[in-house]
Amino acid sequence: MDRKRVFSGIQPTGDFHVGSFVGALMNWVALQEGYETIYCVVDLHAMTVPYQAADLRAGRHESARMLLAVGVDPERSLLYYQSEVPQHVELSWILGTLAGLGQLERMTQFKEKSDRARQNLGIFAYPVLQAADILVHKAHAVPVGEDQAQHLELTRDLAQRFNTRFGDEFPLPETITPKIGARIMSLTDPTSKMSKSDPSDRSRILIKDSPDQIAKKVKAAVTDAGTGVDYDWETKPGISNLLELFSVLANRPIPELVSEYADSGYGVFKAAAAEAIADGLAPIREAYEGLDDAEVAEVMARGAATARDRAETAMKTVREKVGIV
Ligand code: AMP
Ligand code: TRP
Repeated sequence: MDRKRVFSGIQPTGDFHVGSFVGALMNWVALQEGYETIYCVVDLHAMTVPYQAADLRAGRHESARMLLAVGVDPERSLLYYQSEVPQHVELSWILGTLAGLGQLERMTQFKEKSDRARQNLGIFAYPVLQAADILVHKAHAVPVGEDQAQHLELTRDLAQRFNTRFGDEFPLPETITPKIGARIMSLTDPTSKMSKSDPSDRSRILIKDSPDQIAKKVKAAVTDAGTGVDYDWETKPGISNLLELFSVLANRPIPELVSEYADSGYGVFKAAAAEAIADGLAPIREAYEGLDDAEVAEVMARGAATARDRAETAMKTVREKVGIV
């Protein structure tokens, strides 16, 4: 039986933090078991907000290297840079003709990122390109954090609309989010998600952070009233957030951690959480250091060649269906 196909993408902007690691990347790695997996560094998406060319150049490479370090295995997964497969953009144009302005205007990521002065067509069309990324591979499932649910909804709508109008072509992809960690919160404000765009470095733990940096950030993390360690997002959002990170990175169930640390006080709990997070990330940091640039570049070039072949095969049918052959 053919394995189901998984596709996901990540923007090469800045260092990856534990939010994206736990919310998305851990699933990318796990799904290599049992699925056909395709992963993409979405550099074209990263151009929709102001940026420097040198930063993007470096960011793409570092992102690819980090994906290999977290465990994306080029023997089992197709890994490539989006810009090297122009079929993504071609399909995006076609899907754009099916996308309603109203629905695009309601996209929360668009609303958050676009102050009027900096609005541009790219940021508006962003979710349509994302839909094309997924549909050009006819993916069945997409591992992402909770913040991407709306974009996946749009992707299904566009797939459905295409199928109705031109005949069945695309499966409607489902969203895969982790049970714990689909929305890791900021360390400095547990009511907003951990994000690379937060101006405060202390709000997030980077995969590359040293144990010392992690300890400092966790120690300074905003906690809650009272002293008890309890998993309750209503009354203990700061502690609950740390419990999720602790649980996922140490691979220990939350109830077990709660019973162990319930009365130990925040100081002891935070020190243990920081250590578990640092230990969980240590092998990735080591793998990252051990990779060399030429090796990364080689993997990405090979990936792009394969992805272009597959995307071109898919586009042949699409072009026929829409009437441009
Ligand atoms: P980003 O870091 O915004 O480029 O997102 C990369 C991937 O990580 C996407 O699948 C996001 O949904 C996911 N992600 C980003 N931030 C978080 C977070 N704080 N908690 C859980 N998942 C996240
Ligand atoms: N919008 C996604 C994010 O911000 C990145 C992305 C682009 C993506 N294309 C994708 C994710 C396709 C999944 C599938 O994280």
